[in-house]
Amino acid sequence: MEESWKEKLKEAPISRIMKVAYENRVLIPAFNVAYLPMVKAIMRALEELETFALLEVSRPDITRFGAESLRAVKEEYDHHGDLALSRLHQDHVPVIDEEGKEVDWKALIEEALALGYHSVMIDGSRLSLEENIRVTREVVALAHSQGVAVEAELGSVLGHEKGPLPPYEELFRSGQGFTSPEDARHFVQETGVDWLSVAIGNIHGAITGAAKDQKKVEARLNIEHLQRIAQLTGIPLVLHGGSGIKKEYVLEAIKNGITKINVGTEVRQAYEKGLGKNSIVKEAQEETVKRVKELITDYYEIKGSAHILSKNL
Ligand code: 13P
Repeated sequence: MEESWKEKLKEAPISRIMKVAYENRVLIPAFNVAYLPMVKAIMRALEELETFALLEVSRPDITRFGAESLRAVKEEYDHHGDLALSRLHQDHVPVIDEEGKEVDWKALIEEALALGYHSVMIDGSRLSLEENIRVTREVVALAHSQGVAVEAELGSVLGHEKGPLPPYEELFRSGQGFTSPEDARHFVQETGVDWLSVAIGNIHGAITGAAKDQKKVEARLNIEHLQRIAQLTGIPLVLHGGSGIKKEYVLEAIKNGITKINVGTEVRQAYEKGLGKNSIVKEAQEETVKRVKELITDYYEIKGSAHILSKNL
């Protein structure tokens, strides 16, 4: 018979697991699947460390890297995934993409729902507040009717756009794009969204040009700003652009309401390094397992988190 901690996690909806994580200040990392064989490798790391995480896939993972399609990732997850330790999340469905083009967001969300993704993210952050509320509300109604959780974004986590960013220190000092705490309160009340992605100094890793292979800038976080958002929202908050943030800031952010952290660049780069010139998938998977285990153990300090979550469900 399966151990009971596993049974409990398998049966709980992800919205409930995330709430328990929020209340107990446990981090749930979300690892981007940039290449299909990463699914098996990430799962192995989670199993060995008995840690709960999300596996997620974004449009750039599909269009710029090797995730292929929402369906391909779901099939890989059906094969290697374990609901006692993970769920599958659709990352970033933008209403307007990083190149300023309109996206058929509804079709993408409906595709993920039909495939059985456990949670979805609508990203209306390039819209006005009222438009972002309108679109997010529509996604919440659609997804909740099928028992699926919804993440949205307010403020702008920069970094995916083409062209150079202003110097990081300037961005951080000016607070450009930071989520307004008052807007966040209004947004959460009006939309009924489950989790909110916030901008508090975090930036995305590059996905184009030479920068996509380089080490990301070491971002900092404005913890006081996060505290104000957390006080006014009361729901799990999400930190995008998780690669390369200074550890002390991440640990402080977890204590102050960040429950989910999205990590793409550094695990993708580990996979690509392992793949090497001869494209050896097994080596790439080994590097992925190693990096994910390091992140869980040394950086987020959440080894064994599945037991804490299960106990509090
Ligand atoms: P990084 O690539 O900077 O880790 O960001 C990932 C992310 O936020 C995906 O949504």
